[in-house]
Amino acid sequence: MKIMVIGGGGREHAVIKKIKLNKTVEKIYALPGNGGMADDAVCVDIAATDVENICKFASENEVDFAIVTPDDPLVLGCVDELEKIGVKCFGPRKNAAIIEGSKVFSKNLMKKYGIPTAKYEVFEDENEALKYLETAPIPTVIKADGLALGKGVIIAQTLDEAKQAVVSIMRDKQFGKSGDRIVIEEFLEGPEVSVLSFTDSKTVVPMVSSMDHKRAGDGDTGLNTGGMGTVAPNPYYTDEVAKECMEKIFLPTVDAMNKEGRSFKGCLYFGLMITKDGPKVIEYNCRFGDPETQVVLPLLESDLLDIMVAVRDEKLSEAEVKFSEKNACCVVLASKGYPVKYEKGFEITIPDDVRENVFVAGAKLSDGKLLTNGGRVLGVTAVADSLEEAIEKSYEMASGINFENRFYRSDIGQKALNAKG
Ligand code: AMP
Ligand code: GLY
Repeated sequence: MKIMVIGGGGREHAVIKKIKLNKTVEKIYALPGNGGMADDAVCVDIAATDVENICKFASENEVDFAIVTPDDPLVLGCVDELEKIGVKCFGPRKNAAIIEGSKVFSKNLMKKYGIPTAKYEVFEDENEALKYLETAPIPTVIKADGLALGKGVIIAQTLDEAKQAVVSIMRDKQFGKSGDRIVIEEFLEGPEVSVLSFTDSKTVVPMVSSMDHKRAGDGDTGLNTGGMGTVAPNPYYTDEVAKECMEKIFLPTVDAMNKEGRSFKGCLYFGLMITKDGPKVIEYNCRFGDPETQVVLPLLESDLLDIMVAVRDEKLSEAEVKFSEKNACCVVLASKGYPVKYEKGFEITIPDDVRENVFVAGAKLSDGKLLTNGGRVLGVTAVADSLEEAIEKSYEMASGINFENRFYRSDIGQKALNAKG
């Protein structure tokens, strides 16, 4: 089979490394991929959002199966367009990707079907939003409706901050049209858990749970980032919580999407908060998480491509989806200054014996050298019998990977370790 993976980050690298293990795979194209994955896939310089050229490439190169991983092509309808020209895909169609593409849609869906989430109000008018804030409980959470590169959520600790957030999203259009509507919601408290799941709209199979570390600095300080590291499984996701999530969140969500005529097929990501009143949905994503994928897939013992094909064919109930009982830890190595301002173009050296554990996100090849080319440069994942060991091994590998201005958090997994007691 000829496979095409749309996207170019660490998550896509993790998908590609797993897909490669399938014996029927002859060729893997990454569009656009990045220089750091050139050993694992043929990188093609077509942007993940360039749906027209993605389709053209797929037909010219007789691609058998496309895996569409990032949010923006999914929300743009990349899967729909590929299907129109006869390419089989893993990933939701546009009318289902809206579960991530519009927070107003997902909040209304949860309300309609009684799926536990934070209480909220939707606003299309800036003045009404500002008026509502005068009596809203503080802290409060302001969310731009559409995609905003993961930056569209503002937790306001004061009334002033909340008002500023409304003005910058709705008046100043900080996130463009994504801020035409906003959600103002109740501030929830509790540990967060990410659960990625496979679903073919009939069956939903949760993957091993994970914990992201979104802030740039140790002790969850500093600015929000795309994710500075992950561990799996997440100790807060007990068997009891898992059972409750399946009954009250996972199955009802898949069912709700079917009832709305928006059947979801692909990877459905549940961002959960375990509150004192039980698990609640913080957000849905219509795709694999990054860097959650970099700890979840290394624990997958079954064949990823077989599962993806089964999802596409609506035969997930017949597929084997088995995860190891081990633990995984991924440490993200970033460029100093990320997520604000950072330099690029420094040579990256990766010892040969850790190469297989590295998922490259922001790098390019130049004259045979691998150079930094982004804020998050790469992630390195260790799998071990215990969480403690996984953390230790991933840090050991991280310290052996070098580039100028390298920076990483030193406490990935500590919260999970403390929770285990
Ligand atoms: P999101 O972009 O939806 O993942 O939100 C980013 C982060 O904001 C989440 O991971 C949470 O830490 C936080 N967050 C979002 N919604 C809420 C909420 N209602 N209460 C508390 N924290 C929230
Ligand atoms: N790690 C969170 C996300 O992929 O959105």
